Formats: sequence, C-alpha cells, structure tokens
Amino acid sequence: MKAGFAERVERAAASIPSGFRPSAAVILGSGLSGIVDGLGYKEVPFGDIAEFPRPTVHGHKGVLCLSERNAVMAGRFHYYEGHPMDDVVLPIFVLHAIGVRTLMLTNAAGAVNPDYTPGDLVVIKDHINLLGTNPFIGPNPASQDGTALGQRFFDMGTTYTPELRQLVQSCAQRTLKEGVYAAFTGPSYETPAEVRMARTLGADLVGMSTVPEAIAARYLGMRVMGVSCVTNMAAGITDQPLAHDEVVEVGKRVEAELKRLILDVLAKL
Ligand code: HPA
Repeated sequence: MKAGFAERVERAAASIPSGFRPSAAVILGSGLSGIVDGLGYKEVPFGDIAEFPRPTVHGHKGVLCLSERNAVMAGRFHYYEGHPMDDVVLPIFVLHAIGVRTLMLTNAAGAVNPDYTPGDLVVIKDHINLLGTNPFIGPNPASQDGTALGQRFFDMGTTYTPELRQLVQSCAQRTLKEGVYAAFTGPSYETPAEVRMARTLGADLVGMSTVPEAIAARYLGMRVMGVSCVTNMAAGITDQPLAHDEVVEVGKRVEAELKRLILDVLAKL
C-alpha cells in the first residue's frame, strides 16, 4: 500500500455522515444494486465520500447506504476498471473505521463447477487469488504515529468465517451449495482453458472481485462471509458465448431471493 493510505482512510471516514455506527456491512455485486431499493437507508453517493474513486461499471449504483446498525455498499471498485489496489480495498478500511466488524461480500460469478446452475446462490468457503497481485504489496499501512493497522503477515486460514457460513445456510430457504471462488482480473471473461485450469486448481466459481476485499477484511480482523450469484456457466462449460447483459439479467432474477437472505442474515447478527 502507498504511504499515506491510513490518512486517506481517516479523511474518507470523516466525510461519512455522523450518527451511524454500523457493525455489519454488505457489498453488492454487479447487477445486484437494486437490493438497497426501498430499504429506507440513508444513501450517500460515492461522490460525496472523500477519497472514493468513481465507479464506472454498468449495473453498479455507487452509493453507500446506512442504517443505525448496518451499511450496504451498492457498487464497488474493481481492479479491471484501472483502480489501484489501494482504491479497490479503501472502502473496506473505511467501513472498518466507522465500526464495521462483520462483512458480507456478494458478487456475480461464472460457474466452473458443472453441478451449478445459473440462478444458484453459492456460499463462498474459500478463494484462490489469480489476480497476480495482493493489496498489501508495499509498505504495511500505518497511522501517523507509525502504528501499523495490521500485521505484515496475516492468516488466511479461515477467511470465510465458518459460523457465518452456517448462519447464511440457516437463513437460506434452500440448502446452498458451498464453493471456492477464483478471482481473475477481467475485464475479458476467461478462456475455456483458463476455466479448466481454475477447475483443476479447485475452483467452483470464477469472478473479478471479492478476493482483494476479503484479504483486506482479514487484515483488519473482520469476520467475512461471501455469497456468489451464479449468473452463467463459465466459458467452455457450455458453448454459450458470455454476455455482460446476461450476467446483469440473471442477477436481477435472483435479486429478491438474495435480498431476503441478506436482510435475514443482518437481522440475526
Ligand atoms: N467470469 C468472470 N466473472 C464473471 C463471470 C464469469 O463467467 N460471470 C459473472 N462474473
């Protein structure tokens, strides 16, 4: 991380309206932003948050929604948009700074596991970082007095907290599959050979997000859960060409189920 990162986090956190002290947060993936509609949360556009870059991808709203207990980010910053890793994980640090200790990451993903079907919600049990980088490369972020915000070398052994995986299952209306998520940079979708590689490596899902955020959350000692919405079979699993519109469309179809799940999980935390 670049020098001065901790100060950026402080500036961003200070620009968020006071009076909210959320302890849990949800990050909504591509095509899933509609989940915040009608919640009655206070909506803070990313543009009003100091240090936040602007989102660019279609299907992302770009608002931080706040209630007394919870925060929901409709939109996130992807590496493929050209954002430096510092910016990709900045929101996680800011959420932590305003009190969040439990994080639910959601995403749209392609299924590498042939037993999955578009429309499935899958609980992430682990991940594989195929991004070729890590948000913590560079100086370990430290506050102005030199205190590091977290350990240089930190454990990723139980990144997706087992009790929270159970909680998600107990809130779901059907038993959800549990799988390993592999992150590619995108923005091109994978080739069939890359998907076969991911499968051989042990992945069930492929996507372009989540992993940097999960790493940042673990650095900060947060509890993490992940839920993927399978929007398509990954390249080569079927001979269908992939289209972003289809990804957004399937996301919309499962939005209501995911919304219910998210609200139930938040209520039980
Ligand atoms: N690959 C990568 N990211 C994705 C996919 C996919 O097939 N579907 C939705 N996001």
